[in-house]
Amino acid sequence: MYRKEKLLNRRTVVKGFFYGALAGLGAVSSALGPFWILPEAYGNKTGCDGPVPLRLQAAKKGLIYGAETTFREIGDAEFVGAFKRECGILVPGDELKWKALRPTPGSFDFSRADFLARFAKGSNMHFRGHTLVWHEALPWWFGQTVNSGNAERILREHIETVVGHYAGQIHSWDVVNEAIATWEKDSLPNGLRNSPWLKLLGPKYIDIAFRTAADADPEALMALNQNVLEYGSKASEQCRADTLDLLRRLKSSGTPIHALGIQGHIRTDYEHAGRFSPGKFRRFLRDVADLDLKILISELDVVDSGLPRDIALHDRAVAGIYKEFLDVALAEPAVIGVITWGLSDRYSWQRYGPGRDKTTVRPLPLDVDLNRKPAWYAISNAFDNAHKNNF
Ligand code: G3I
Repeated sequence: MYRKEKLLNRRTVVKGFFYGALAGLGAVSSALGPFWILPEAYGNKTGCDGPVPLRLQAAKKGLIYGAETTFREIGDAEFVGAFKRECGILVPGDELKWKALRPTPGSFDFSRADFLARFAKGSNMHFRGHTLVWHEALPWWFGQTVNSGNAERILREHIETVVGHYAGQIHSWDVVNEAIATWEKDSLPNGLRNSPWLKLLGPKYIDIAFRTAADADPEALMALNQNVLEYGSKASEQCRADTLDLLRRLKSSGTPIHALGIQGHIRTDYEHAGRFSPGKFRRFLRDVADLDLKILISELDVVDSGLPRDIALHDRAVAGIYKEFLDVALAEPAVIGVITWGLSDRYSWQRYGPGRDKTTVRPLPLDVDLNRKPAWYAISNAFDNAHKNNF
């Protein structure tokens, strides 16, 4: 199985694009609304006695499925069993960020990330890197040490060291995370987020990061990772347009970029974010694919704070949102995989959100007891219905 999945790895070429026939699929499923999912409906779909794990369900369509996890979670033996069963790719949630890797300006601490890399390898999983450049999770010393005179050297040194350390072991790197401003009104011309890196180096920091990363590991897919790309709101429309402009600029200047990571933290506070827009999202996926880029759904979950407190209703709503989103995403042949931001509600990042009642933090495929939820069945069903990729 690993060898078969490995075919998806690296910079393989996507063949056979049947966009026309597939374009309407997402719109059809979304018309059914987000609350129609019943887990029982999928009981016999796999043709097996028990439900097939998500990684295998995805692999049948030439796709990768996996999840974010952390060093701490891999200390939980019960969780590890579920993770190994379901996942074909592992993404460290925190351990590859600057804050975790750089205790001081002159040192690197790879211990926790190495542990996860070894775990992934020993479990026949791909290992994904998140993230080399982000405006968050910077170490305490960053502000007092990095200035416009040394920023380029420090950025290059960081990327050369970290990417070099894992060269040959990484499926894909989120080279730059959230470069485009979303609704924080913190943007500059071109929609670029006014991040510390932009302030220090200007827009060229993105090109520098990609070139340095690709030189340090010629095998890994190098990705831009971005949020707020899926809604009908003006802010999301702007984010899609700015992301496409950035991707076009990078491609036309020969920057070695191979993929777009679409985070997909699907929000349910519709007033603020706007609703998921199947048509606009489908169009966007095709525009990205037209740039000869692959697409990874890189951080999928449902930000479920706005959903009913009744658990059955809540879970069905979450499942419906997964299904609606994935039916659109998986109709696009350039999409090579789906990663959920966590596997079990036991460890969702949303548990740490201010004011969240933990009993209604249920955004992931498995519940806190590691049982499959309607969301799991919705994802499984979406893989079942997905376009088959011919890599
Ligand atoms: O582990 C401690 C816990 O013991 C303590 O009780 C708690 C109190 O705040 O903090 C816990 O650590 C936090 C950790 O999340 C828990 O997983 C850290 O303080 C917090 O900084 C860390 O946040 C991470 C966040 O990025 C910022 O780096 C989340 O793990 C991680 O899931 C989240 O991931 C981001 C992606 O990188 C980018 N896209 C959005 C996504 C979700 O915010």
